[in-house]
Amino acid sequence: MFKFFKSNKVKSSIDVSLDYNKIPKHIAIIMDGNGRWAKQRKLPRTMGHKAGIETIRKVIKECNKLGVQYLTLYAFSTENWKRPQNEVNALMQLLVEYLRKEFDELNKNNVVISHIGDISKLPKVCQNELIEAYNKTKNNTGVVLNLALNYGGRAEILSGIKDLCKDIIDGKKSINSLNEKVFSDYLYTKGVPDPDLIIRPSGEQRLSNFLLWQCAYSEFWYSNINWPDFTESDLRRAIYDYQNRERRYGGIK
Ligand code: FPP
Repeated sequence: MFKFFKSNKVKSSIDVSLDYNKIPKHIAIIMDGNGRWAKQRKLPRTMGHKAGIETIRKVIKECNKLGVQYLTLYAFSTENWKRPQNEVNALMQLLVEYLRKEFDELNKNNVVISHIGDISKLPKVCQNELIEAYNKTKNNTGVVLNLALNYGGRAEILSGIKDLCKDIIDGKKSINSLNEKVFSDYLYTKGVPDPDLIIRPSGEQRLSNFLLWQCAYSEFWYSNINWPDFTESDLRRAIYDYQNRERRYGGIK
């Protein structure tokens, strides 16, 4: 059942009725299009990232409301260090500001503020804020927000292999005991179910080194909307489409 409504931002937004028994457990989002959003408005790129934070706010609230258990947001990749230094600095600054400003609200809404990626390469102030936010919220019972920071799927797999090799050398693991489940526990996402749905706005249709191991059977959803224009209705539309797909995991139905 569709209800069309007018949005001054995105004409294609459609409100949909969702099946609350089939809400994806884990949604992962590549928050793309901030730069283009800013360029279209003749603004500096950092304004696009700032506007993207407003979308993060909306999406977390909606996920909590819908009962999504895990939300992973690709905020800074291992490749994003190639960007101009002023943009990298601005992103790090925005992260700190976000964690400081939003902490009370997120905590009040029972959100677990977690992260994946090698945060040891981030500025110390970012590391401290991330660790403190996690320690203070780890016992919350709402959506688990995984901020992917200095995250790369290949780096994650390599880091898992190194840790696994160490455990084999130290006699803590045997080669014969290895299987996909055992290896998954060496990834940053240990304990987190694989994403059911991966969303990428802004028109690009690629993974960009995101959750390479974990996305083996994820459903993908793309749209032309730039991240700052992405709304709760777009999230609901993505979930609606997901609910109307048949997941066969390589088998037959
Ligand atoms: C990709 O768009 C976006 C990023 C690399 C950064 C995303 C960051 C935020 C939304 C805000 C900061 C995050 C937190 C968690 C506070 P792009 O810049 O590549 O856009 P373009 O492809 O249009 O240039």
